[in-house]
Amino acid sequence: MSEQWIEACGVEEVEVEDVMRFDYGDRTFAIYRTDRGDWFASDGFCTHQNVHLADGLVIGTQIECPKHNGRFDIPSGAAKRRPACVDLQTYSVKVAEGKVYILV
Ligand code: FES
Repeated sequence: MSEQWIEACGVEEVEVEDVMRFDYGDRTFAIYRTDRGDWFASDGFCTHQNVHLADGLVIGTQIECPKHNGRFDIPSGAAKRRPACVDLQTYSVKVAEGKVYILV
C-alpha cells in the first residue's frame, strides 16, 4: 500500500512537551510535541510490551514509557533506556493550517 498523509489532530490538541494517542484503522500512533515545539510521530505502543506510549511522559526529546520507564529518542525512535531495547518505528510529520499530519 502506498504512503499517504493522514490528519492526526489539531496543533492546539497537544501541549508543548506532551504526547497524544492517535488511532487510525487498526493501528495506533503516538504524536509528540517536544520541549522545542517540534512535531514527531511513532508507533503508539512501546516495543518492550504493548503499553500506550501516549500514557508516558515526554522529557525534552525523549518519551518515557509509563510501565517500566524505558525511554526512546522521539526524533529517531532509538531505544535509549532499558528495558526498552528495540527501536520505535517513526513517521514523517507535517503541520499545515493548524492541523498535524503523519505519513503512513
Ligand atoms: S512496557 Fe515500555 S518499558 Fe516495558
